[in-house]
Amino acid sequence: MIKLPGLIDPHVHVREPGQTHKEDWDSATQAALSGGVTMILAMPNTKPPIFDASTLDIALDAAKQKARCDYAQFIGAGPDNADILPNLASKAAGLKMYLDSTFGELRLDDMTLWMPHFEKFPKGYPIVLHSESRTMAAGILFAALYDRPVHIAHISLKEEVLLIKAAKEKGIKVTCEVCPHHLFLNNEDLTGLTYGRREVRPQLGTKEDVDSLWKNMDVIDCFATDHAPHTLTEKDSDNPPPGFPGLETLLPLLLTAVDQGQLTMDDIIQKSVINPREIFHLPEQPETWVEVDEHAEYEIHAADQFTRCGWTPFEGWKVKGKVRKVVLRGKTAFEDGKILAEPGSGENIRK
Ligand code: DOR
Ligand code: ZN
Repeated sequence: MIKLPGLIDPHVHVREPGQTHKEDWDSATQAALSGGVTMILAMPNTKPPIFDASTLDIALDAAKQKARCDYAQFIGAGPDNADILPNLASKAAGLKMYLDSTFGELRLDDMTLWMPHFEKFPKGYPIVLHSESRTMAAGILFAALYDRPVHIAHISLKEEVLLIKAAKEKGIKVTCEVCPHHLFLNNEDLTGLTYGRREVRPQLGTKEDVDSLWKNMDVIDCFATDHAPHTLTEKDSDNPPPGFPGLETLLPLLLTAVDQGQLTMDDIIQKSVINPREIFHLPEQPETWVEVDEHAEYEIHAADQFTRCGWTPFEGWKVKGKVRKVVLRGKTAFEDGKILAEPGSGENIRK
């Protein structure tokens, strides 16, 4: 049995308010705990989006009632809310800016819309960018121009990891995360994944992209799931929304990579605990740990998961390393497949 600190997932779509048929604060935090994740940072592209004081309160009220692990909620940058967000910064995980099109309404097409957010959002609080390819390069230029840190969500391309490497070497304050699906799947070998179930933003990369992410693992600061649940009916429809669930498969996939010599345990602790804590200014969780049976081999099946979405892109994958027990702030929160933490026992770490 191996003991790890509770993992932090800085990128989770909880879907509440507005789309609780996909997920809510209860099911998302159960999925987190069963995956060894004891703290999640929730994204703001809900319905309505979290973009002012009252929508932030709606999300935080739901979380307070239902969350079973610790959390914070991002606020979203819109075309006309840059003036009000600084007052909300201390209550939020940070500011999320959608610079490319994806699921939900939050998007800032025009670079003049990015400027007031970079100017006004307090420098001590993180800005996270959904940016792809050349938009990412523009986002890094903004970090340099405004001399403030930016965190690039879900990098997926060779050109992205190489550009971030170069920017870091120049001293620009940029950090980044990678998702398991961009490390373990590519767009050339998708046996078993039908069309709608391949849809994700950023899209899956080529084998060359994936190889480059692995090769430049030292450039990558965090692992993040981008847990983005949509139901199977939605994924298999004519107009499938992009996104994969990921909270319950993150740690088993990473542990399997450790078993195969592709990663070390230290990589997991660094990129899923230490670095996210530092980048997002998160508190330590006292008396919090995860017990993992590193020898247990099993198959991933959606039927065993706590997420409400009912599927996983890793269906049938054989993994080695199983979460047996999770202790959160001194209390057993998960043990042998059962959630023991009560709804509302999770704490808002920004309160
Ligand atoms: O695939 C994605 N799904 N990418 C995103 O950026 C949003 C997410 C979602 O909310 O479904
Ligand atoms: Zn996302």
